[in-house]
Amino acid sequence: MELIRTVDAMQAHADAARADGQTLALVPTLGALHDGHLALVRRALEAADHVTVSVFVNPTQFGPGEDYDTYPRDLGGDRETLRALDVDTLFAPSVEEMYPYSDDEALPGPLAWVDMVRLDEHLCGAHREDHFRGVTTVVTKLFHACKPDVAVFGKKDAQQYVILQRLAEDLLFDIDIVGVPTVREPDGLAQSSRNEYLDPDEREQATVLYEAVTAAEEAIEGGEQAAEAVVGAMENALAAAPDADVQYAELVDAHTLQPVDHLAPGQEVLAAVAVFFGDTRLIDNTFVQVPASPS
Ligand code: PAJ
Repeated sequence: MELIRTVDAMQAHADAARADGQTLALVPTLGALHDGHLALVRRALEAADHVTVSVFVNPTQFGPGEDYDTYPRDLGGDRETLRALDVDTLFAPSVEEMYPYSDDEALPGPLAWVDMVRLDEHLCGAHREDHFRGVTTVVTKLFHACKPDVAVFGKKDAQQYVILQRLAEDLLFDIDIVGVPTVREPDGLAQSSRNEYLDPDEREQATVLYEAVTAAEEAIEGGEQAAEAVVGAMENALAAAPDADVQYAELVDAHTLQPVDHLAPGQEVLAAVAVFFGDTRLIDNTFVQVPASPS
């Protein structure tokens, strides 16, 4: 496995693989790799001849007061993990490499941003100002650096996944965006690099996120059509955790990411929650197809 640290070297490497007739897949990550990330890597290995995993803790997607400085970093461990999986390339650029004009006195960068409207109005976008602007900007840069045919993302970050699909379509990226289902711990908690911040008691309570989105799924599949009742089922499940500070429990249309009021037969919706345990923010969600009306 090759470790590449500069954009120029990454572009040359991708050009050489393409000239050799290979197809390229990219798995963008913030690192501190866990089984959720590895499911994406396995999917990428199936999808293309040559797989690049990027590890870059992207400063522009963390807000003031968020965990950029303390976000877990373990490039050595990530490198070993990826080597064992037969990944071809690990792209791990520095912040200076990805944001080259940050120190320019006259015109400190970045000056160019890729921004998404509408799809960032609810869910995480409503609570993390400029977060998705940071994500869409860095993913665009990673696409230009790594030149993939296929890019693989997790549905665990459902809003991010929907936004990146639309980004690729709106900006005419010739890249297939592939989504992978959420990988969970045996008790249902979605795998996340932030789970390691939880103390044992919080870790035990954190299963309420999965219980909440499962309650939403069961209500919808059982024929519930009022969004308020579905959201109520999620809130009830979350209330079982005394230390959970709920940021949101929402039901939105899976395509527009706008809130729904009354569920329509056949509609695809997204039930999503975000919860703080102390300073640790966890999310979970599920895409659900509303049953067709009984004929
Ligand atoms: P990160 O949180 O490291 O996640 C990298 C990818 O792994 C994302 O596509 C995410 O949805 C996926 N992922 C994380 N946990 C998962 C789980 N339990 N099951 C399935 N997939 C999971 O998301 C980011 O990084 C960044 O925003 C990034 C896209 C890299 C841009 O900086």
